[in-house]
Amino acid sequence: MDRDSVEPDVSTIPGDAAKQWVSHHHRFAAPSTYVYGFVWDHSEPAVGPFCTDIDGNVLMDFTAHVGSMPLGYNNPKILDPLAEFDLVDPLKIAGQDFYVTAGGLDPDVPGPTGLMERLVDATSHYGMDTVFLSNTGAEAVENALKIAYDHTRGKYAITCEGAFHGRTLGTLSLNRSKEVYRRHFPEISSVETTPFCTDRNCTAATCECGFFFEDTSWLREMLAEGTGWVNDEEVAALVVEPVQGEGGYRFPSESFAAEVGALCREHDLTLVVDEVQSGVGRTGEMWASDHYAFTPDVIAGAKALRVGATVARAEVFPEETSRLSSTWGAGDILGAAQGALTLDAIEEYDLLDNATERGQEMKERLRDADLQSVVDVRGKGLMLAVEFETKEHREDAIAAALARGLLTVGCGEKTVRLLPPLDVTEREVELGVDLFAESVEAVA
Ligand SMILES: Cc1ncc(COP(=O)(O)O)c(C=O)c1O
Repeated sequence: MDRDSVEPDVSTIPGDAAKQWVSHHHRFAAPSTYVYGFVWDHSEPAVGPFCTDIDGNVLMDFTAHVGSMPLGYNNPKILDPLAEFDLVDPLKIAGQDFYVTAGGLDPDVPGPTGLMERLVDATSHYGMDTVFLSNTGAEAVENALKIAYDHTRGKYAITCEGAFHGRTLGTLSLNRSKEVYRRHFPEISSVETTPFCTDRNCTAATCECGFFFEDTSWLREMLAEGTGWVNDEEVAALVVEPVQGEGGYRFPSESFAAEVGALCREHDLTLVVDEVQSGVGRTGEMWASDHYAFTPDVIAGAKALRVGATVARAEVFPEETSRLSSTWGAGDILGAAQGALTLDAIEEYDLLDNATERGQEMKERLRDADLQSVVDVRGKGLMLAVEFETKEHREDAIAAALARGLLTVGCGEKTVRLLPPLDVTEREVELGVDLFAESVEAVA
């Protein structure tokens, strides 16, 4: 498959083999979230955003596996160094501080220690120097919460309307997007909620979401000494997704971000940012937080890193051993290597600039297409969203795109996410946007 010339080529999707495989899979699998008839055949050709399904259809994948495949399929920047890696057993290692290297003091392929070193480098502008690795995004957030509770001895956590932080019992207590995530489950107590002021070119004066009112904000009133309902000394963490993911690719207004930053300074709050979906170059900066006027104390990352990571200043972490741990607390050697190589590739190949430039092109093309039933096109870098008038319009557009060989994924109520790989080319942007526009118009 030649990345410079390949195009989606679909006969029927899902084809017969895909239907059979999906039904075979569901004889064993608990119902989850991924509900396409798309079955990737990883023994068949795949490169960049292109892959082949079980029926031989060639598809263009603009989901990047919800951001967890940041460099596309079979990227040589990941695969070539890994080719030097001799498979060993075990690949998952027993605990964060089980020390391992792949080649003495100067290993050819970075492992968990190499990933931590790179993460410290990538967060040094926030003064962070310490990492706890885990397996998933939920674990990264869960451990961020744990260290914040431990560090501050506070009992309150503050979350945002529309938030999604994972599916463990701890993280789901912070979720404020779809009720399906939380219904009937017990929750950790003392979680307060603040509105999340989504950017509609609004300012503090024009805000309609309820975060700003008169000359103050919900959060400011919550924490106001004497009149507020939460004592700032009892706040363990304010937890924010710099861009809300599952909640609908909601980007905060600049004034919201500035108010969060100001209140964190005024009240000495521990700000935990959930960069599980938005981090590692997706928005054209290493962290989506880098776009905004707040300074995180703890970053939770995962997806593009292939393992979970909780990053903070050393003093925010407990000193006592066994306060944090997990059998697979370093994720796994291969996952950590992929995460580390991804960070190397982002730097070496200027992928932040590529994400910014290609993302801008995509936004402009989508806006210029002036598509029927589309109410908004937004995004930073390659974290892009198209919002429709209704959920039905969104579902129809996703199905029509799939039929043409373009994979997309929904979020929120009526929004489609478009997540090309960070090294997407101009040709691929044009191809993907044309396919998407054609699909939307066909069903509008
Ligand atoms: C912002 C955010 N936080 C946390 C999570 C949970 O990550 P995981 O599914 O790896 O547990 C997700 C997953 O979609 C997410 O988007």
